[in-house]
Amino acid sequence: MAISQETPTMTSLAQGYRALVIGATGAIGGALSDALSRDPRCSEVIGLGRGAGSLPELSDEAAFGAAIAASGPVSLVLIATGALIIDDRKPEKRLQALSEDSMAAQFRLNTILPALAIKHSLALLPRQDRCVIAALSARVGSIEDNRLGGWTSYRAAKAALNQVIRCAGIELRRTHPQAVIAALHPGTVESPLSAPFRPEGAARPEVQTPEQSAAGLLRVVDGLRPGQSGGFFAYDGSAIPY
Ligand SMILES: NC(=O)c1ccc[n+]([C@@H]2O[C@H](COP(=O)([O-])OP(=O)(O)OC[C@H]3O[C@@H](n4cnc5c(N)ncnc54)[C@H](OP(=O)(O)O)[C@@H]3O)[C@@H](O)[C@H]2O)c1
Repeated sequence: MAISQETPTMTSLAQGYRALVIGATGAIGGALSDALSRDPRCSEVIGLGRGAGSLPELSDEAAFGAAIAASGPVSLVLIATGALIIDDRKPEKRLQALSEDSMAAQFRLNTILPALAIKHSLALLPRQDRCVIAALSARVGSIEDNRLGGWTSYRAAKAALNQVIRCAGIELRRTHPQAVIAALHPGTVESPLSAPFRPEGAARPEVQTPEQSAAGLLRVVDGLRPGQSGGFFAYDGSAIPY
């Protein structure tokens, strides 16, 4: 079955809403930004990316936070940063391959960066109106779904991100009753991140283009309700167990 990449209209957000995409330089982040730019209800998309020079390194949290704060009021924040291979270190196949450096790097990028992006985005959101923060996680971060093992640091960093989202969902219920925060699995998507792990020439109908994944993710974001805040969802809307 062909996967639709038709640009969704975010009918759940106010007419003229503004959106912030953190990691807009990535394959999925770029496709999310492009799709939002085509949404007639969206008045502005702010895209931040390290490669674009608009997202300072996390090591300077003040500058990182200031770049997010400079975006101004938004109703939608999408966090699309992340990596599977960091500094040429591939995900571990065995426990013997674990190292302090590579685990710390995974947690820095895949847990701490989105957590601090959420922290600095909160001040941009309306207190009483609908707003959504969604961060790209990965199904392999599901503890219940883990049948194969391996990729310990990446899996653990994404599981920790999911816990951050769960905590944020509970906290936001008190301060922003109409807000939704969610962890999203984009599917297996053609990108520099997945390229080294896709068998060459093999027919993989489940692999999506970034545009297909982005369209699915935006439809999911548009449909999420405050009661689902803190949850973990795939690009097709199905809930994933933590
Ligand atoms: N592709 C898949 O099949 C797949 C599957 C499951 C989950 N995901 C998740 O989806 C997200 C996006 O993946 P993608 O496929 O779009 O990957 P991608 O094309 O490689 O994009 C990665 C993004 O992360 C940013 N980034 C990388 N290292 C960074 C750092 N140290 N500091 C700040 N930003 C950094 C990159 O920005 P710069 O290049 O500007 O630094 C880029 O915007 C990731 O969280 C990934 O885990 C992807």
